Amino acid sequence: MTVELRPVTAKNWQALIKLQVREDQRNFVASNLYSIAESQFGFEDEDGHWDLIPCGVYADGEPVGFAMYCLNMNHPRFRAFIARLMTDEKFQGQGHGRAAMQQMLELFRADERIQAVGISYEPENEVARRLYASLGFVEPGELLDGETLAILNLR
Ligand SMILES: CC(C)(COP(=O)(O)OP(=O)(O)OC[C@H]1O[C@@H](n2cnc3c(N)ncnc32)[C@H](O)[C@@H]1OP(=O)(O)O)[C@@H](O)C(=O)NCCC(=O)NCCS
Repeated sequence: MTVELRPVTAKNWQALIKLQVREDQRNFVASNLYSIAESQFGFEDEDGHWDLIPCGVYADGEPVGFAMYCLNMNHPRFRAFIARLMTDEKFQGQGHGRAAMQQMLELFRADERIQAVGISYEPENEVARRLYASLGFVEPGELLDGETLAILNLR
């Protein structure tokens, strides 16, 4: 199986907004429609402007999930942040979430300006916590907007 991240375009955004998590997972992630809207503008915080890069997750050419990362080369702790990751309820548990994470991390490793990557998740999201910990993310013991923060040092 080939899993790839593809840009969100005029051709695929309607297929990507149809992808959904299970009802009991809806408080773990924003809808893909919201994320794609948000990505048009990026966001500002005390460390400056973050660009948001939304991606479709494709398995053997079929859309199965969605991811979005942010970049801010002025951030003092992590210049990359994984803002969204979801696999449609019909395709979960088949390795797509892990593969999408690995592909984002490869992109970041290839950019020598990015020294660390941040991610955050609801404290009760055990599946996410275990997945990210297995990829090397470590919790410094802080909350970010009420979510557990984890950081992976790349270099
Ligand atoms: C988190 C999420 C993206 C994982 O996607 P996925 O495609 O199912 O992930 P994978 O199939 O690659 O599985 C990753 C690991 O999680 C485990 N896992 C997946 N679903 C699970 C479940 N329901 N219960 C227990 N473990 C589960 C897998 O066994 C796998 O572990 P392993 O690699 O050690 O065997 C998906 O569960 C999801 O969309 N959840 C709702 C949204 C969400 O929580 N996003 C993260 C916000 S921070």
